[in-house]
Amino acid sequence: MELVKWPFLKQSWGIEFERSEGAYLYTKDGKKVLDAAGGAIVSNIGYGREEVADAIARAVKNNSYVLPPFLTPEREALLDELREYWLPSHLTRIHLSSGGSEANESGVKLAIQYQASRGQPEKNIILTRSLSYHGTTLNMSGISGHAARKRGLESYVPEPTTIETPYPLRCPLGSHHPEAKNYYLENLRNTIKRIGSNNIAGLLMEPINGSSGGAIYPPDGYWKEAQEILRENDILLIADEVMTGFGRVGEDFASNLYDIEPDILIAGKGMGGGYAAIGGTYSTDRIADSIQAAGYEVMFHTFAALPQSCAASAEVLKILREENLCQKVPSLGEKILDQLNSEIGQHPHVAEIRGKGLLIGIEIVEDKSSLKPFNESKKITSQVMAKGLEKGVFLYPGGTGEYRDIICLGPAFIIGDEEINLMVKALKESIDQAVS
Ligand SMILES: Cc1ncc(COP(=O)(O)O)c(C=O)c1O
Repeated sequence: MELVKWPFLKQSWGIEFERSEGAYLYTKDGKKVLDAAGGAIVSNIGYGREEVADAIARAVKNNSYVLPPFLTPEREALLDELREYWLPSHLTRIHLSSGGSEANESGVKLAIQYQASRGQPEKNIILTRSLSYHGTTLNMSGISGHAARKRGLESYVPEPTTIETPYPLRCPLGSHHPEAKNYYLENLRNTIKRIGSNNIAGLLMEPINGSSGGAIYPPDGYWKEAQEILRENDILLIADEVMTGFGRVGEDFASNLYDIEPDILIAGKGMGGGYAAIGGTYSTDRIADSIQAAGYEVMFHTFAALPQSCAASAEVLKILREENLCQKVPSLGEKILDQLNSEIGQHPHVAEIRGKGLLIGIEIVEDKSSLKPFNESKKITSQVMAKGLEKGVFLYPGGTGEYRDIICLGPAFIIGDEEINLMVKALKESIDQAVS
């Protein structure tokens, strides 16, 4: 019998990377591949930084494991870094875990515990969005709007209560309709009315979609007004910034971009830049104090706040700051968007090129005027990825359900013109070949 070595299910790509450095991956046979997706849109400072390796080694020697609730110098350094330089000032409480899914679970638990602590245990529904991804645990699989990632689990996972994800390209009123913002806000209002605000703990949302929609962002002003509606209805805003956080979209957080103040903010990915399995759930004193007063527990994961993960994260965030890498993101993103628009903006199968900072999505369709997607059997996204790899560029698959052909770009913040030219050229040629 054939040994399926890795991963769990047999895959077609059969590629083996020996090492990685900067923005590149190197295969076993010496081929250099530009990582235009920073792994899973994780890598921000690039791969292989010695300072981070040294920080991890120091932490392992000093404190290989200490129970999460105890303070250690490694934890303190990260907490100081976060509070001093990154977190919005109203988010004073920090709960750490080992990744985005866990951090989202913690965020949802805090929201439900908070409502229960105020004597409202029935206020326990977490609204999510029709198109969204919040993680791979059972609960997150269930409440995410990502059809492909819950196949075979539908009978078990919770059915989500959703609002419509603002998707300007595909707004039911018409593509980029001037009334799109009001349409989607009305959907939020009506959903709250239908479910009853007394039954809803919070709205879990990605301010900008990650891979479920490939950098879909809402019409101007949507989030600000949505937050007002939530406040009027005493519903918490829980921002999943696992993909958008820590500079990815050209601001420290996408919430800053939209001038909103989440009650709970979740981060992962860029928080450790790929050097640490770490996620963060950040909340207000009001939420934490209420939970504490009720005597509820906020349990830790065994590997939460591992000293070596904290040390890695603190060092990554310091590098981002000291090398002004986040400040480079908006202009790098603009450059990529400009080049994509000039190279494939008029492409008959490219419906939209969109994004903020270095989170960019390219939506591919069979018919541009009706926005009809290709048949699933054509596997356009997989083909684009495979062609990209042949040309030495790793592109990230996005989209789900009906709209599944979306390519995401999310490179490290250290790329230059050479990398931009390479990724745009590879993307253009790969799309041409995949759709032909
Ligand atoms: C927005 C968002 N939330 C949550 C997650 C889950 O994070 P993790 O895979 O670290 O558990 C992801 C991962 O892609 C994500 O993009």
